[in-house]
Amino acid sequence: MHPGLWREVWILVGIAVTSLVLGAFTGRPFLIAALGFGLYIFLFLRHLQRLHHWLLNRQGGEIPDAEGLWGDVFNEIRKLMKQTGHREDQLTDMLGRFQSAASAMPDAMVILSQQGDIEWANPAARLLGIKYPRDAGMRLLNLLRDPDFAEYARRGEYTESIEVTSPDSRETHVSIQITPFGSSQKLVIGRDVTRLVRLEQMRRSFVANVSHELRTPLTVLGGYVETLRQMDQIGIEDLKKHLAIMHEQSLRMQRLVDDLLMLSKLETAPPRAHDETVDIAALLSGLKEQAELLSGEQRHAISLEADRSLKLLGSREELTSAFSNLINNAVRYTPAGGTIRLTWRASGRGTEFTVTDTGEGIAPEHFPYLTERFYRVDTARSRSSGGTGLGLSIVKHVLLRHDATLEIESDVGQGSTFRCLFPEQRIAHS
Ligand SMILES: Nc1ncnc2c1ncn2[C@@H]1O[C@H](COP(=O)(O)OP(=O)(O)OP(=O)(O)O)[C@@H](O)[C@H]1O
Ligand SMILES: [Mg+2]
Repeated sequence: MHPGLWREVWILVGIAVTSLVLGAFTGRPFLIAALGFGLYIFLFLRHLQRLHHWLLNRQGGEIPDAEGLWGDVFNEIRKLMKQTGHREDQLTDMLGRFQSAASAMPDAMVILSQQGDIEWANPAARLLGIKYPRDAGMRLLNLLRDPDFAEYARRGEYTESIEVTSPDSRETHVSIQITPFGSSQKLVIGRDVTRLVRLEQMRRSFVANVSHELRTPLTVLGGYVETLRQMDQIGIEDLKKHLAIMHEQSLRMQRLVDDLLMLSKLETAPPRAHDETVDIAALLSGLKEQAELLSGEQRHAISLEADRSLKLLGSREELTSAFSNLINNAVRYTPAGGTIRLTWRASGRGTEFTVTDTGEGIAPEHFPYLTERFYRVDTARSRSSGGTGLGLSIVKHVLLRHDATLEIESDVGQGSTFRCLFPEQRIAHS
């Protein structure tokens, strides 16, 4: 038997014995026994009442103290309370951590009831047009009104995800996946896949552009080969003319492939450290001679003004490619007899290379797109002059790899200035 219970039994036996002994003296054993047991019952009921009172007002205070069996009962309750409190704390702590993790998640998370009502959502659920707790209890399908999603939710086959545009912004693409869990609840997870969708669009348009650019010279080449094959006789002059055109088309394809390879190298190669000290003045005088050759009969007035003491830390090959692209553009898009000025000098904002021409100029609305691959202001003109639309894209990448920026100023009919601005840490003074 429990020691506390023994103690109670002994108290009762004590009361009985005391009543008998005192009763023998006083001749009133029953009265004394009634008093003794009455006191015992009174104390018993008082402890019970204290326990009852404490149970009713638990938050009110400490559990009462007592001796004996009641003391044991109170102690056990105290221990139990402590354990429950500890477990509650642990659960609250875990719940708190789960909620802050879910809140920090960039993916939208929504818990739906069996009926499809919103039970809980994290802050990123705004991707799906849901704001919690404002939308608690609402139907998800009422907030995310997309016919494809409605069909996906109705079908109930959730092995694959579905892509929709976000109700929050038409520009944002969200991939949604539903996962059933618990008895009949559902977890909806939405992920922003805008970047992936854009990359995919870029990849598609890139492949389409390359194919398109290659198709024209290939068609011309194929046509000439076919014509030559069908001819029984051909004069040497005609043959030379045909071959010259074929040569020109193959050169065009060669240029396109070279530019594409250059771009891919610039994009994939890790940025090189300040590997070479490039004598820009010498490099530019070589490029000026090439520009004069390209200008040929058009006789542009090409001038060069370069500070020989300013050397550039970078890649000679890449800089040559970027600067020659800018200079060739100036020659190609400036009418015969126009002026082209090349300068390399220190300015208040760093050191700059500028190409200024008196050519046809570019309207400002084209500026943001000029460095995009295959972008040309006048597609027909550029193509007829052998342009692929990759030149300025190469310039942008080379400058990026040299911590430099490109600035464009232009007036239609007046001319343009392309300025490459290099930061001080890229310059070596000699
Ligand atoms: N100096 C300039 N003056 C007028 N327009 C220019 C000038 N430089 C570039 N452009 C315009 O910007 C477009 C993009 O130039 P970019 O050098 O990227 O391509 P491209 O010259 O057409 O072809 P590529 O350089 O690849 O042979 C050109 O098609 C042209 O319309
Ligand atoms: Mg160009």
